[in-house]
Amino acid sequence: MATNGSAAAPAAAQPTASQPVQISEVRQSSSRENRTAAHSHIRGLGLRPDGYADPNSHGFVGQTHAREACGVVVDLIKAKRMAGKAVMMAGGPGTGKTALALAMSRELGTKVPFCLMTGSEVYSAEVKKTEALMENFRRAIGLRVQERKEVYEGEVVELTPEESENPLGAYGRTISHLLITLRSSKGTKKLRLDPSIYEAIQKERVRIGDVIYIEANTGAVKRVGRSDAFSTEFDLEAEEYVPVPKGEVHKKKDVVQDVTLHDLDVANARPQGGQDVMSMMGQLMKPRKTEITEKLRSEINKVVNKYIDQGVAELVPGVLFIDEVHMLDIECFTYLNRALESSISPIVILATNRGMATVKGTTSPLSPNDPGLLSAHGIPPDLLPRLLLIPTHPYTSTEIGTIIQLRAKLEFATATAPQLADNPQALKVSATLAPDALEELTRQGTNVSLRYALQLLAPSAILARARGSEGNVITGADVNEATALFWDAGRSAAQLKDRAGFIA
Ligand SMILES: Nc1ncnc2c1ncn2[C@@H]1O[C@H](COP(=O)(O)OP(=O)(O)OP(=O)(O)O)[C@@H](O)[C@H]1O
Ligand SMILES: [Mg+2]
Repeated sequence: MATNGSAAAPAAAQPTASQPVQISEVRQSSSRENRTAAHSHIRGLGLRPDGYADPNSHGFVGQTHAREACGVVVDLIKAKRMAGKAVMMAGGPGTGKTALALAMSRELGTKVPFCLMTGSEVYSAEVKKTEALMENFRRAIGLRVQERKEVYEGEVVELTPEESENPLGAYGRTISHLLITLRSSKGTKKLRLDPSIYEAIQKERVRIGDVIYIEANTGAVKRVGRSDAFSTEFDLEAEEYVPVPKGEVHKKKDVVQDVTLHDLDVANARPQGGQDVMSMMGQLMKPRKTEITEKLRSEINKVVNKYIDQGVAELVPGVLFIDEVHMLDIECFTYLNRALESSISPIVILATNRGMATVKGTTSPLSPNDPGLLSAHGIPPDLLPRLLLIPTHPYTSTEIGTIIQLRAKLEFATATAPQLADNPQALKVSATLAPDALEELTRQGTNVSLRYALQLLAPSAILARARGSEGNVITGADVNEATALFWDAGRSAAQLKDRAGFIA
């Protein structure tokens, strides 16, 4: 890089001209983009249009019956025929229950609320167990409201924050107002806006050439997309191009908004203003933390029902997924029974890896020998008959091998640019598995568990690199070394048992 005063520096390498390039380079090499989560290879259920599952599609391998069953559930939810029903996925650890739930949420898209919780989340010192459950129930029920709003809409032609001296006399300058010019098909309009809107504009990353709309009464700013006048511009980002809005810049517009009942509860926890959906929605902008009472909820239900009857709002029952449901106790289960029968209810999907187990909360501390209420999957017998069960089965060694290969491809690939992560050509592969390494990992996956084999991937790659492996190829020896360094729970428990025997 040219130094500041260098006369030999070419014009293009002037510090000011090269600065933006530097910033983008820094962003691309950020290690945050490289992280992969446990389920990031799952992109959907991988079903064909006829509803049958492909053996290997969308990152999902095998488990075809469960995937097909989940596909039927997704269809029922989309047709709004499933509210108030409950499904449970039951199967051993690592058989893909959580992965199935995430795939379902991907299939449903962003318009259907999907609330994911874990059984143990209900235990908190501050909030009652049933309250936490109810809150999540309400998060899973959406309301689509149509509202007529006064908006300014157009393509941004000018965006100038006007500065003034800081009134407090400090050195900095403050923004006194924002000048913005919007263009629509019928004309342009220059607006002088409050500085608070400038923050919203920055948050949405609005720049010249974007199509935005600004709500006149709340000042909320929404970026719609990039104006299609710019669509020929060379741009690496996956942009959404939209046409320049028709009509005047200032107009009345029907806006459809999606909120959940929980959003409405929170917004109205301290009621003020009128009792209608519009004023409820207006208060969404000012979240406060106050207690949500049962009375408030029933008030909101009443208003919501009235608006549904009038055709202004539409109910969108979503999904409440409770993972590790055996962690709930008997009180929560009875509450769940009741909540499922209420008139506004989402579809509830449960998942557990327990076989016969004691229902939590049924043992008495006074009689330690009492086994409590023993029931299938740790779920009380009065809830079980209400559930449709989807079993998940252990994987064959071929399936385990394929899943490991899939994961390895994802874990050992670095996206060259975050926007292109979905495009395989844009991935730089940092390590590969040799056939004997895959064999060894598959053996660990079959003998110990799929999870253990997947967890060995990253350490094996590091060991291969440390040994200076040519082309970063992971061999069976690397996997064996990783297995020696990192134990699985079973091996550790066996060792402890041996030692205990030795001491005794
Ligand atoms: N059929 C599959 N195809 C691809 N990946 C899978 C499949 N099944 C499971 N996995 C992956 O294996 C790992 C373990 O699966 P998952 O967490 O879904 O198991 P689980 O059934 O929820 O287990 P637990 O009962 O212990 O919670 C995850 O990384 C998951 O993405
Ligand atoms: Mg799980």
